[in-house]
Amino acid sequence: MSKVKYSFFCQSCGTQHAQWQGQCNSCKKWNTLREEVVEKPDKKNWKSKKKASSVSKPLKINQIEVSSESRIDTGDFELNRVLGGGIIPGSLILLGGEPGIGKSTLLLQIAMTVCCKVLYVSGEESQHQIKIRSDRMDTSSDQCYVLSETKTQNIFSQIETLAPELVVIDSIQTLNTDYIYSSPGSVSQIKECTAEFIRFAKETHVPVFLVGHITKDGQIAGPKILEHMVDVVLHFEGDRNHIYRILRTQKNRFGATSEIGIYEMQSNGLRAVSNPSELLISEKDEKLSGHAVAATVEGIRPLMIEIQALVSTAVYSTPQRTTTGYNSKRLNMLLAVLEKRAGFVLGTKDVFVNITGGVSIADPAIDLAVIVSILSSYHDIDISEGFCFAAEVGLSGDIRPVPKTDQRIQEASKLGFDTIVISKFAKIGKQNESIKVLYVSKIEALIKALFD
Ligand code: TYD
Ligand code: MG
Repeated sequence: MSKVKYSFFCQSCGTQHAQWQGQCNSCKKWNTLREEVVEKPDKKNWKSKKKASSVSKPLKINQIEVSSESRIDTGDFELNRVLGGGIIPGSLILLGGEPGIGKSTLLLQIAMTVCCKVLYVSGEESQHQIKIRSDRMDTSSDQCYVLSETKTQNIFSQIETLAPELVVIDSIQTLNTDYIYSSPGSVSQIKECTAEFIRFAKETHVPVFLVGHITKDGQIAGPKILEHMVDVVLHFEGDRNHIYRILRTQKNRFGATSEIGIYEMQSNGLRAVSNPSELLISEKDEKLSGHAVAATVEGIRPLMIEIQALVSTAVYSTPQRTTTGYNSKRLNMLLAVLEKRAGFVLGTKDVFVNITGGVSIADPAIDLAVIVSILSSYHDIDISEGFCFAAEVGLSGDIRPVPKTDQRIQEASKLGFDTIVISKFAKIGKQNESIKVLYVSKIEALIKALFD
């Protein structure tokens, strides 16, 4: 056995240091170095018997052959779209998210719906517990093998005998490899286990899903380099108190990162939501003030969402500004614009803004709907049900065009809205007969059109 070595690893970026120091040389963070035991292995390969892979040669890019149906269909429409059309063979997909959000549920579901032999490895649950979970989800598959194991060498030996076409690891933080002596979940273990799976995936062309825990501040636990090593980083997010979950791409080497997938958590597992707009707009049996609908676009998918605002007299000398699903700095900016350009003094009012359904939206096109909902609550006048809004608001109170306006208009008309308010400067293609387009250029004009 070779000599045991100690080294200091930065818990933030994973850089190895020979001795302890207060600041990491690489990421400049303070007090992040921890001592971990490292043993230099003689050889590291996912296959114990095999020598290191053969030396690869340069090839002309137009000589490299790729079959057209190279992507694997996951059997889940939302996940397929988020991945850019399916799983690329040999890719490593990291799925991060809060505990209890549904990562294991989603991957077990995929393992049972995908049409190939799958090995689902869990370091967190026993085979028995996984079976109980699958029974709850009402699905079954005769190609899904379940293994409860944490040592990567044992996992690889099972993979060699079983030859699965897809591997799911739940989770990377529970794995440990023989070559490193530090505890599971430490930076060096995570880095080494991921590297072993990367070598395995690239050599065999078997795609691997890795579940990643996240830290208190929302980052994937372990070194940042983990996200650099894998091909795709997905985040599963949502409010645990709401039923909707959103699958977002943070990095995708084989597709766009702007795609989102929406799921609904039900008692029998996750269900893909194919038409989220209908669900995100709450049904009311009477007209209420403070509600406005925004036409947003997430990725390539248009989404109608409802903004609710409440303006009330402040109880403290510093008024409250509280938002759910919307950037609170942006709300402060919009309130300042309203005060300066339209004379609304909201300094003595509490303002609450909420996006229904527990989703959070960063699309600036919802600015106009936020302003309208605030004004509607302030005046206590409801906005006609057929209205929706899609424009950005500038600092001088100008209403600015947003990209993909045509798509927003189309979605609004599909869902039965009769008027959409957009910027005067938006360039739109052929007019849609079934929806009226109202152009505004200034906040003052908007107030005139809606409340006078
Ligand atoms: P889980 O997949 O275990 O979360 P993670 O792996 O991200 O920690 O999901 C657990 C939550 O999902 C739990 O709070 C219960 C809920 N759930 C359902 O509502 N329905 C179901 O069918 C399943 C399996 C879980
Ligand atoms: Mg889990």
